[in-house]
Amino acid sequence: KKAVLAFSGGLDTSVVVKYLQEKHDMDVVTVTVDVGQGDDYASIDAKAKTLGVRKHYTINAKEEFARDYIVPSIKANALYQKKYCLATALARPLIARKLLDIARVENADALAHGCSGKGNDQVRFDITMRAGSDLPIIAPIRDLNLDRPAELEFAEEHGIRIDGVAKKFSIDQNLWGRALEGGVLEDPMMEPPGDAFIWVKTRDLPDEPSYLEIQFQRGVPVAADGKTLQPVDLIEYVNQKAGAAGVGIIDHIEDRVVGIKSREVYETPGASCLIEAHSDLEKMVHTSHQTRLKSILDDEWARLAYSGLWEDPLRRDIDAFIESSQGAVSGTVRIRMHKGSMRVVGRSSEHSLYSREAATYGAESSFDQRLARGFVSLWGLQSTEANKLQEGRLKK
Ligand code: ARG
Ligand code: SIN
Repeated sequence: KKAVLAFSGGLDTSVVVKYLQEKHDMDVVTVTVDVGQGDDYASIDAKAKTLGVRKHYTINAKEEFARDYIVPSIKANALYQKKYCLATALARPLIARKLLDIARVENADALAHGCSGKGNDQVRFDITMRAGSDLPIIAPIRDLNLDRPAELEFAEEHGIRIDGVAKKFSIDQNLWGRALEGGVLEDPMMEPPGDAFIWVKTRDLPDEPSYLEIQFQRGVPVAADGKTLQPVDLIEYVNQKAGAAGVGIIDHIEDRVVGIKSREVYETPGASCLIEAHSDLEKMVHTSHQTRLKSILDDEWARLAYSGLWEDPLRRDIDAFIESSQGAVSGTVRIRMHKGSMRVVGRSSEHSLYSREAATYGAESSFDQRLARGFVSLWGLQSTEANKLQEGRLKK
């Protein structure tokens, strides 16, 4: 019997290799998907071999991740609970899809992952796998109710090496962001220690502000600081530049799918800037009615992606709406970054609906204020009447 396992080389998935071999008596084929986590893939390959796997695959899916997952999330301004850019959540369905491809090639008898039963990742993996296969899913950490100390002990017994930072926190990272959980962060009142951060500079930040200019075409970021870049390079460029300015740390309490509240810390410099820039530009080119409905659907898109429902038809329906809304989202946004703060300070678009002539308080205005008087009384008519007519009733 043969199992295909999503393998990162970290604690959980290394433990799972041994469990599959020893408790399930299975051959293990490991798959590492490169979604821009920047790991040393040769040493992950070597680690898999040391664990005695039958075969190891490294799949480069960085471009696909950027094009088919991150870019749609930028168009959706996707932030779960207004904060989290979904870095981990977006990568899971892609990794699960790649696992299914290998399972087919390898004629596997089971699929396996290293997620716990307390998290969101199990939901994302299981549901995407189910969308493409009926093979059994084995998740030993969840099935055996293992905790981290038990895993560390098991790893020690089996000669599995775990590096220092992986012992301090549970980390997941890719092109779109870096997530930290566990350890001292489990006290929600405890400030993350300085050594938690590696993408965002937190000390000795430059005294001068820096500026970042992003150009969008139909909702897609296509150039940064005047240079045309493919999505992967563009995101890496912004991660670098915003991180150096101290921008992109998120620290919040998040509601997991399974009902647990969890303290999450993220480094997402690129995502923070690109989503801020994109949504700012949208407000310049969309009518107030488009802006209102889109923000509701954006929120729902983020909820679906977060909660493992990437494959739900509703996500595709919302994508159709979003795609149709992006036709006018072309233009340039300028962001100012200074000592960890970031804000949009300029925007322009060929499709701009902003009219200086209408908005100005100067003498050259084309807007006849006298028309407003009638508008205001009709706009407030129902509210004014309700207050009059129902006053007595409401007091009782
Ligand atoms: N809470 C985030 C999510 O559900 C990040 C999870 C990251 N995983 C980790 N092992 N740190 O997408
Ligand atoms: C896990 O439990 O496997 C990681 C955390 C999460 O999925 O939210």
